Amino acid sequence: MNRISEFKELTKALCEVYGPTGREYKAAALIKEKLAPYADEFRTDPMGNLIAIKRGTSGKKVMLSAHMDQIGLIVLDIDDKGFIRFAPVGGIDPAATVLREVVFENGVRGVIYHEERTLKGENPKLAQMFIDIGARTREEAEAHVSVGDICTYAPHFVDMGSRVSCGALDDRICCAVVIEAMKSISSPHDIYAVFTVQEEVGLRGATAAAYSVHPDFSINLDVTASCDTPECEYMPMRMGEGPTIKFMDRSAVFTRPVIDFMKRVAEKCGVKVQNEVLRYGGTDSGAIQPMLGGIPAACVSVPTRYIHSPVETADIEDCLGAAEFVKAMAEESELPTA
Ligand code: CO
Ligand code: ZN
Repeated sequence: MNRISEFKELTKALCEVYGPTGREYKAAALIKEKLAPYADEFRTDPMGNLIAIKRGTSGKKVMLSAHMDQIGLIVLDIDDKGFIRFAPVGGIDPAATVLREVVFENGVRGVIYHEERTLKGENPKLAQMFIDIGARTREEAEAHVSVGDICTYAPHFVDMGSRVSCGALDDRICCAVVIEAMKSISSPHDIYAVFTVQEEVGLRGATAAAYSVHPDFSINLDVTASCDTPECEYMPMRMGEGPTIKFMDRSAVFTRPVIDFMKRVAEKCGVKVQNEVLRYGGTDSGAIQPMLGGIPAACVSVPTRYIHSPVETADIEDCLGAAEFVKAMAEESELPTA
C-alpha cells in the first residue's frame, strides 16, 4: 500500500468510530491501538484525554494535539409514540441535520425528520426535528435510548481518490496526522501526543491537558475552512495547497516568534504551506496558549470543505504534508520561547 491509501485507511477507521463530545472513549481506544508501536508510554486523564509520550533527552516537552470528539445530538425527551427530541452538542447546522441517519453509543440507529403542519415551507429548526428509531411507543424506545444519550451522524466514508469525505473528519483526520507524525519523529525533546476531549463545546479537554503536560511548545492540529467552493466567503485557505500556518481565529492570535519559526521550518523541510486567517471558530490552541503563564503555541490546519456536516471533505496530500511539517517542527532543537 502506498502512503496515500494507508493514510486513507487510517482516516476511514478513525472517522467510523463513535465518539461525540464527552463520549470519546471508543475513539481513544482505537487511537491508542494504532499508536502503540510508536509511543513509550500512555496516560488517560480523568476527563478522557489520551496522552502518548515518546521520550527524548533535552528535558523539554513538545505537545502535539488534535481533538477526538465529534459534534453530536443529545436526547432531551421521548414522547408517547417513541419520537425522540434532541439538543445540539457542539456546532450543529439544522440544514445538515434533517433527513440524516444517526447512530447511538450502543449501535442503535435512527433517522431524523421534522414537524410538518407547523412549518409552512420554512426550513425546520432543531427544536422542530425528532429522531425516529423505529419504536412504536415510549417504552419500546426507552428500551434502547435514554434521556442524556448522545448520537452522531452515521458515518459514510466517500473515497474520491486523493480526496475523501466523511462526517468527523473534524478532527479525526488530524488525529490521523498526529499518528502519522509520531511514526517517525526522532526528537531531542519529550513528545507528548495529546488527543483531547470536548473541543466542540469550548476547548475543555485541551485546557486540562495543557495544565497537566505543561509543554515548552505546543502544536495543535485541526481542520479549517477551505474557501474554494462556489460563492464562498473570502479567506486565503485552499484545499490541496498544503497545510496552513494559522495567524488568527476567534480563539487565538499567534505570536510573531512562533510564526517565524513555522515559516523557517517549512522552508527547511520543503513542505508546501499556506497562510491561514480564519474569520470564525477556534481551536484547542486558544485554550493552550494562555495556560500557565503563557505557552508558545502554534496551530497547523488541514483545509476542509463543509465543516460540521456529514460530508466534510479534505485532501490527503495536505494531511501528509501536515504530518511532515509537524514532525520537522517537533524535531528542531531550538524551540520558540515566545
Ligand atoms: Co469542529
Ligand atoms: Zn475541530
